[in-house]
Amino acid sequence: MKTPYPGFGLGLRPEHYADFLDARQPVDWLELISENYMVPGGKPLAMLDAICADYPVALHGVSLSIGSTDPLDLDYLAQLKALHRRVDPLWVSDHLCWTGVAGRNSHDLLPLPYSEEALKQVVAHVRQVQDLLGERILLENVSSYLEFKDSVMPEWDFVRAVAEEADCLLLLDVNNIYVSSVNHGFDAQAYLRAMPADRVRQIHLAGHHDHGDYIVDTHDHPVCEAVWALYADACRAFGEVAAMIERDDHIPPLPELLAELDQARAIAARVAAEQQAAA
Ligand SMILES: [Fe+2]
Repeated sequence: MKTPYPGFGLGLRPEHYADFLDARQPVDWLELISENYMVPGGKPLAMLDAICADYPVALHGVSLSIGSTDPLDLDYLAQLKALHRRVDPLWVSDHLCWTGVAGRNSHDLLPLPYSEEALKQVVAHVRQVQDLLGERILLENVSSYLEFKDSVMPEWDFVRAVAEEADCLLLLDVNNIYVSSVNHGFDAQAYLRAMPADRVRQIHLAGHHDHGDYIVDTHDHPVCEAVWALYADACRAFGEVAAMIERDDHIPPLPELLAELDQARAIAARVAAEQQAAA
C-alpha cells in the first residue's frame, strides 16, 4: 500500500471531466470506475492520463464478480492488470458480491449467502486477484434487500472473515451499511464494531431513496443526516480513513459535491478534535 491516508476524494464522473481539466479542484484524490478505462484508446484513456498527471487515483471496479461460483474472468483480470500498470493507483477495489453466473451478467451488485461455502469461494478468488496484482485489494460491502436462507452468520462476520482469511482490505460504504440496517433491521453500530479497524482503508459516502419501510441504494441524493452520523461513528472507530462522496445518478454541478466533501472533512476534524481532547 503506497499511500495509507490520501485524504478526501470524489468519485470522478464524465459530467465533471471539464471541471477537472479546466482547473485544479480541491480534492485530495479521485476514484475512477475501472471499466470506463478498459478500452484500447481514444478519449477515455486521454482523460485518464490527464487526470493521473494531476491527482492520485484509486481504481474501483464493478465487474469482478468475486463471489460468483464461476471462475474469475481471466480476460477481465488481464485488462485490470494492464490498467493497474498504466495508472499506478493508490489501490484497486471492487465489491463483495456477485454480478452473474454461467456467463450471464445481471449488471447488478448481488448479495451473497453468508455461508462457509461462499466464504471459501470468495477467499480463493481474492487470493487469485491479489497474486495477479501483487498487492492487496479492497472489497466493498454492498447494500441488500433480501437475505438467503443459507446464511449461517451475519453480514458483518462474513465481511470480517473474508478480510482476515484472504488478507485483503476493506472499503466500507457507510450508506450501504445504513441502507441494509434499515432494510433488515440490524444494528449499524454493531456492524461498525465488528470491522477489523486495521483493514479499513476507504469509506464511501452516498445518498439513497427512502421509501418509508425500505430504502433503495440509488446514489442519486445528497448524504442524509443518519449517514453523516454513522460516518462520525466510523471516524471514531477507525481514525483517519480516506473518504469520498459517491454520486452515480442525478449528478449535480461539481460545487455541490465539493460542499458535501467539506462536510465530511468537518466531521472527521470534529471527531479527531474530540478524541484528542478526551485523551
Ligand atoms: Fe459504494
